[in-house]
Amino acid sequence: MAKNRELNTQDINISKKNIFITKTPQETRNLGKKFASMLKSGDIVFLKGDLGSGKTTFTQGVVKAFGNKGFARSSSFILVNEYNANNLKLFHLDLYRLKPSTVWNIGIEEYLYSKNISLIEWADRLVGAENDNHWNVEINDIGSERKIKIEKKK
Ligand SMILES: Nc1ncnc2c1ncn2[C@@H]1O[C@H](COP(=O)(O)OP(=O)(O)OP(=O)(O)O)[C@@H](O)[C@H]1O
Ligand SMILES: [Mg+2]
Repeated sequence: MAKNRELNTQDINISKKNIFITKTPQETRNLGKKFASMLKSGDIVFLKGDLGSGKTTFTQGVVKAFGNKGFARSSSFILVNEYNANNLKLFHLDLYRLKPSTVWNIGIEEYLYSKNISLIEWADRLVGAENDNHWNVEINDIGSERKIKIEKKK
């Protein structure tokens, strides 16, 4: 069973399935940072949640954890942002503007199925990839707070 728990950045234990509550953007970034420590070469992360729910904010924490000085920006107008992550790359993709019917026409496999790590906003556009190994990070607004569910789909 998933557990609801207050976010304590000293003690986040992201196991196979967990739900976290964050009260501020910084807490969401901290959760992203902690989550980054679980990512391995080749991992794909589906970021789900409504407009403004915090997908990019969460990604900022992941990017920071890999030692990037730059700040992850909302990539709504740029399809892919690229960051260096030790000896591999971190790709932050935003598929918002793509239709599910065209998403596979842009060479997206090159990002997904590689030794790199991909974080994908609006991953619901990626019809056909549901059964691939991936992490699911689902963000819901609950007033000023965010409920963030992290699970590994094997
Ligand atoms: N607990 C919280 N966690 C994350 N963001 C929060 C939180 N509380 C408030 N916010 C605010 O919500 C907004 C989240 O924006 P962000 O760009 O991360 O969302 P997004 O899901 O990437 O949106 P889009 O779908 O447009 O790309 C920011 O303005 C942020 O300051
Ligand atoms: Mg975004």
